[in-house]
Amino acid sequence: MRLEVLPDAAAVGARAAGVVAAEIRRRPRLVLGVATGSSPEPLYAELAAHVRDGLDVTGVEAWALDEYVGLPADHAESYRAVVGRTVTGPLRLDPDRVHVPDGTTDDPRAAAAAYEAGLERAGYADLQILGIGHNGHLAFNEPGSPTDGRTRVVALTPRTRAANARFFGGDADAVPSHALTQGIGTITAARHLLLVATGTDKADAVAAALTGPVTPEVPASVLQRHPRVTVLLDEAAARALPPSRRPALPADALATPR
Ligand code: GLP
Repeated sequence: MRLEVLPDAAAVGARAAGVVAAEIRRRPRLVLGVATGSSPEPLYAELAAHVRDGLDVTGVEAWALDEYVGLPADHAESYRAVVGRTVTGPLRLDPDRVHVPDGTTDDPRAAAAAYEAGLERAGYADLQILGIGHNGHLAFNEPGSPTDGRTRVVALTPRTRAANARFFGGDADAVPSHALTQGIGTITAARHLLLVATGTDKADAVAAALTGPVTPEVPASVLQRHPRVTVLLDEAAARALPPSRRPALPADALATPR
């Protein structure tokens, strides 16, 4: 695992975009796993700058981690809409090459199976961008999720619905109760995992995931077992890591070159 601690969220975004851009240059037909949530937003904004500077993303295919069940397709907070706004548009990706589970169908279990089959056909992600939930969740894999799980329908915990209430006018009851999510097995089939976490409210989850026992109770702890993981944290998200696990700031951290 490669772990870097950077001064702030902007520096994490710039560094993470550099990692993604390097992978795209190495493999122009990259299968890119994209996460929603606030954590990767600076990454996408910085990556859009790489695209404006000439990074060729015409061959890139994107697959979202998850989607709410039951929101109308045009709801502004459906992950389909969020991915369109934060990823497809700014990165100028071909919309036909951007995939999000279908949360609008009346058969979400069939939608989950179809999504997993599509990912399998694509060969799974070459690079998977990840955030982390306050309870250590990955995508919508809540504590207790099987480590070999595949794309499926899940119930969201009250804590996750409360955390996401900010996107629904502050009303946790307005957050859908269920979601479609790639499983931990699907996510860890990716060849390279890139976790970005910022802010003090993520510090305990990050410490548990990276330095605690590997357990389904902390879904992100599976990262410890994956052969290729890059973790980019800001100082705030790294503050609960034991001193022995806290790397020094990279020498060029403040320059944040693209
Ligand atoms: C959400 C998403 C996850 C995301 C996490 C953290 O519920 N399903 O994919 O990583 O929670 O979100 P944020 O980055 O906004 O804190």
